[in-house]
Amino acid sequence: MKNLINQILDVATSCLAFIALIFILPPFLCLKFFLSSLNFIFSENVSGKVVLITGASSGIGEHLAYEYARRGAKLALVARRRQRLQDVAETSRYLGAPDVLVISADVTKVGESKHFINETVNHFGGLDHLLNNAGISTMSMLEEFPDITNVAPVMETNFWGSVYSTHFAIPHLKASRGKIIVTASSGAWLPVPRMAFYSASKAAVLSFFETLRVELGGDIGITIVTPGLTESELTKGKILSKDGKMVLDQNMRDASLPRIFSRVAFQKIR
Ligand SMILES: NC(=O)c1ccc[n+]([C@@H]2O[C@H](COP(=O)([O-])OP(=O)(O)OC[C@H]3O[C@@H](n4cnc5c(N)ncnc54)[C@H](OP(=O)(O)O)[C@@H]3O)[C@@H](O)[C@H]2O)c1
Ligand SMILES: *[C@@H]1O[C@H](CO)[C@@H](O)[C@H](O)[C@H]1NC(C)=O
Ligand SMILES: *[C@@H]1O[C@H](CO)[C@@H](O)[C@H](O)[C@H]1NC(C)=O
Repeated sequence: MKNLINQILDVATSCLAFIALIFILPPFLCLKFFLSSLNFIFSENVSGKVVLITGASSGIGEHLAYEYARRGAKLALVARRRQRLQDVAETSRYLGAPDVLVISADVTKVGESKHFINETVNHFGGLDHLLNNAGISTMSMLEEFPDITNVAPVMETNFWGSVYSTHFAIPHLKASRGKIIVTASSGAWLPVPRMAFYSASKAAVLSFFETLRVELGGDIGITIVTPGLTESELTKGKILSKDGKMVLDQNMRDASLPRIFSRVAFQKIR
């Protein structure tokens, strides 16, 4: 019986895949190509604009800084590790950023968030793009936490960290008709074991900024980025352990990340 169902499903999915390949894929690729050419032609000139990036000391944030630097933006780089930020600042200046401000701060502290927005605006005279990118992950199951409050930093960093800086930046972004860019994750809608807290924090980010987009109307543009796996300190296994400490745990990473891929594959064939 199970075999028969499997065979029927096999035939059905092959037919569907064939139909999709012939009738849906080409128009989709054309549309994608058209939209990306539009983006290319009408892309924003960020030369001389003021861009604040949280989580700029490594990974995605660091490389966002370099992309903005190449396009001549002025940068405010925020994270806790000052020395790493200074190295990123130096490379950014070399790549073409005319002015780079380094601010060591913790996005989970509301006072520090207020301060880094204030310092950026005082230094540059305004703010054009706010990139809420700082984030941490955890890869433990709910049942494994000896003290459930150990996992609170995930929500405090990924959700509240983005909310605090946005709150203080909004008046300045309204004045410049600027943009908010926030790094959510494909985890926001993909249920993967051991990633419940991370995924929930990113689903909160997604929902919050989609609602904010409606609240703000056209005053401030909001871009929500949902990357898949991207090489960074996070994917090298830097995670919040079940004991509430940031650790480098490559075994845990190897146990969790392949499941993300199999889950993606599973969703595709279902
Ligand atoms: N890599 C992926 O596959 C992937 C996929 C989807 C989404 N993302 C998201 O992308 C964003 C960047 O992550 P990444 O992959 O580039 O990892 P990463 O290399 O570990 O970078 C995380 C950054 O966040 C900063 N940060 C962490 N806690 C902070 C705090 N309390 N205050 C200020 N800064 C803090 C870190 O700097 P300090 O330690 O110096 O403070 C670091 O600069 C995260 O939001 C992550 O969830 C990543
Ligand atoms: C981008 O903006 C800068 C500063 O406003 C200006 O000097 C430059 O010519 C602009 N570049 C393009 C390609 O429009
Ligand atoms: C913000 O900047 C103003 C100067 O423009 C300063 O008077 C004020 O104390 C600053 N506030 C914080 C929290 O840094």
